[in-house]
Amino acid sequence: MNLQKLLKSWFLFISIGALLGTLSCKDDTPDDTIEFEPTPYTIVIPKNFPTQLNIPADNPMTVEGVELGRYLYYDSRLSGKADEGMPMTCATCHLQQYAFENGTGKGIGTTGAETHHVMLPHINLAWNPGVYGWNGGTPSIEDDVKAVIYDPAEFASTNEKVLAAIKSVPMYPPLFKAAFGTEEITIDRIAKAIAQFIRTQISSNSKFDKVLRNEASFSTSEGNGYVLFATEEGADCFHCHGELGNPLMTTHGFYNNAKDSVFDTSHDRFSVSGKSSDIGAYKVTTLRNIELTGPYMHDGRFQTLDEVINFYSEGLVYSQYAHPLMHKLGPPWEVGALLNPQEKADLKAFLLTLTDTVFINDPKLSNPFTTK
Ligand code: HEC
Ligand code: HEC
Repeated sequence: MNLQKLLKSWFLFISIGALLGTLSCKDDTPDDTIEFEPTPYTIVIPKNFPTQLNIPADNPMTVEGVELGRYLYYDSRLSGKADEGMPMTCATCHLQQYAFENGTGKGIGTTGAETHHVMLPHINLAWNPGVYGWNGGTPSIEDDVKAVIYDPAEFASTNEKVLAAIKSVPMYPPLFKAAFGTEEITIDRIAKAIAQFIRTQISSNSKFDKVLRNEASFSTSEGNGYVLFATEEGADCFHCHGELGNPLMTTHGFYNNAKDSVFDTSHDRFSVSGKSSDIGAYKVTTLRNIELTGPYMHDGRFQTLDEVINFYSEGLVYSQYAHPLMHKLGPPWEVGALLNPQEKADLKAFLLTLTDTVFINDPKLSNPFTTK
């Protein structure tokens, strides 16, 4: 027997032993004697990702909490308006196939009202330091859930309606008990469970990731595009969208990226911070799965990545509020990175390596009512 075979059979022996061990342990503990002991859910930090996660101390991740959150996220009774003919849940707007965006632009609430901005996807939000929404005005995912209930362009509902709807579904009390120790259903627990599920929506298997892990290599065009992305002499994208060693592809900062010279300050970062340097500034979104999440910018003004690239290449608009990191903007003579057609194609090829088909097909993130 050679060494490899030996190792293989040794490993098999251990695995079978471990399996028998767990099975027999389970047999010894009848279910009704188990105290409330939810199973901790450990987020496995993907290779190259920052180790610092934003998980509130009062909402630790548990397997049971994530499972409950997944049902609620996909349950169109959640709006509390299904019996009024207006079923809606998070997944009505946040669809897995578009990296939990809707792929069409603005969201449309139960009453037909449009959201102020276009959609934001749910990608690696467990790493978001507490700036949710285009202007960062929502400090936690839990708070976002609570806001969705009332938002006139989302559920346009009330806590009472949501609670009544979820309480009336027989499957939920046991799931709340498993997740939180008692069958009590509250808005706080609903928000916590959904937030736990959202924290498991992790994208780390794009071609870009595989290249970083030495499991794949860039084509020449993709590689050239990456150099453009990540150098100041090139297209100079990395200061805001993430440097080498930051696979989140966002810095979570707020910048005015020189799209306009007059600004509507009602929903920008200035509306939250009150600082004049934040006029016309919005959160720099992750570029992960960017192929799937158009139209682009907070107002969806660009339909395609080509339009976005043309904008950064020759469409920048000078204003005193443009962020200093928009190095390619120097009035009145510079309007962008001035890329030639090959460079534009290369930059786009690189952006397309950020699409993660494993993420959008991950069965653990899919609708549990239809796939389980
Ligand atoms: C009617 C469509 C709609 C529904 C339903 C909806 N959302 Fe959203 N969601 C949006 C839009 C639009 C944004 C971007 C909002 C903004 O910043 O202006 C957003 C943003 C978010 C963000 C911020 C993401 C980020 O990167 O900052 C979170 C978190 C979120 N939604 C969670 C939820 C949850 C949880 C639910 C269900 C309880 C939900 N959403 C239901 C439309 C919707
Ligand atoms: C000064 C910081 C900064 C620089 C430099 C920068 N961006 Fe952006 N980018 C932003 C911000 C902020 C937004 C969101 C702006 C908004 O919606 O108003 C954005 C949005 C985008 C979007 C659309 C995202 C979405 O979800 O709609 C793409 C694509 C993009 N940038 C690509 C690039 C590329 C490619 C480069 C380099 C050529 C680049 N950016 C350089 C800050 C920057």
